[in-house]
Amino acid sequence: MSPRLKEKRPCLHRAVKKKPAKAMDLRRPKDTKRMSSGCLTKLHKTYKGLEDIHLPLFKEVQKIAKAKCVLYPGSHWHLQASLVFPNVTYIDYNKAVAPFFQDAAVQNWISENKNYGGSAKMQFYHTDFDHLKLSGGYDLLISMSAGIVSKPCARFLRIGGHFLVSDAHFDARTVALDKRFSLVGVYDMTREKLVTSKDQLNLCFMTTTGQKISAEQVEISKKKPKGSRGFKLKREDWFYLFRRIS
Ligand SMILES: C[S@@+](CC[C@H](N)C(=O)[O-])C[C@H]1O[C@@H](n2cnc3c(N)ncnc32)[C@H](O)[C@@H]1O
Repeated sequence: MSPRLKEKRPCLHRAVKKKPAKAMDLRRPKDTKRMSSGCLTKLHKTYKGLEDIHLPLFKEVQKIAKAKCVLYPGSHWHLQASLVFPNVTYIDYNKAVAPFFQDAAVQNWISENKNYGGSAKMQFYHTDFDHLKLSGGYDLLISMSAGIVSKPCARFLRIGGHFLVSDAHFDARTVALDKRFSLVGVYDMTREKLVTSKDQLNLCFMTTTGQKISAEQVEISKKKPKGSRGFKLKREDWFYLFRRIS
């Protein structure tokens, strides 16, 4: 069983100004003078470059999802997603994220290290994912340590598409109660494998008293520390994969 995820990175929600959506196309960067490798240094520092713990997870997910178009709300500058997924739409309301999508060194690093053929396609929208206007039909949605992404963004996922969700901010347990989704995998951090066996999936989001977690218990999880919630789960993991079934 993996330990509960304790985010060590600072949350960058504060001091950000919301602006209307603006797409940037990595394939045709316009302002070449502003490009520098400062962003690549930060990307390596924050997410450890190719040592990013999410990379094996993304690879495992892609084996199942085979996603072409991916939506990543609350992405920060976590561009490692583009090493595995060929077309990623990144959303963040932190204006410090935008320059990463214009940075030549970052683009080169992605081109050199990506796991798929063809060019990497990336769009960045500097906006609030709670009020996103997109046409939808994405193959994969990612929610990682950015609050409850599922409520405003699940509608952008096509039926049959996959949803990779962390439970850092209790979004995974929120999705577990959403009838549109079925759990198809839980990530074993030690083995770096997605576990898909029914017997293990049946333990997820189950209390030690044998009931599925309730909506009330999800709300309690957000407010109280683990030791004083009045319930325990049979297993708690960092990352889960769901499929949208309706
Ligand atoms: C803790 S960071 C996590 C970043 C990345 N997903 C990861 O796992 O490392 C949360 C990010 O979500 C962004 N964020 C939070 N709420 C948001 C919202 N409503 N709209 C857009 N971005 C948001 C923040 O600006 C921040 O960059």
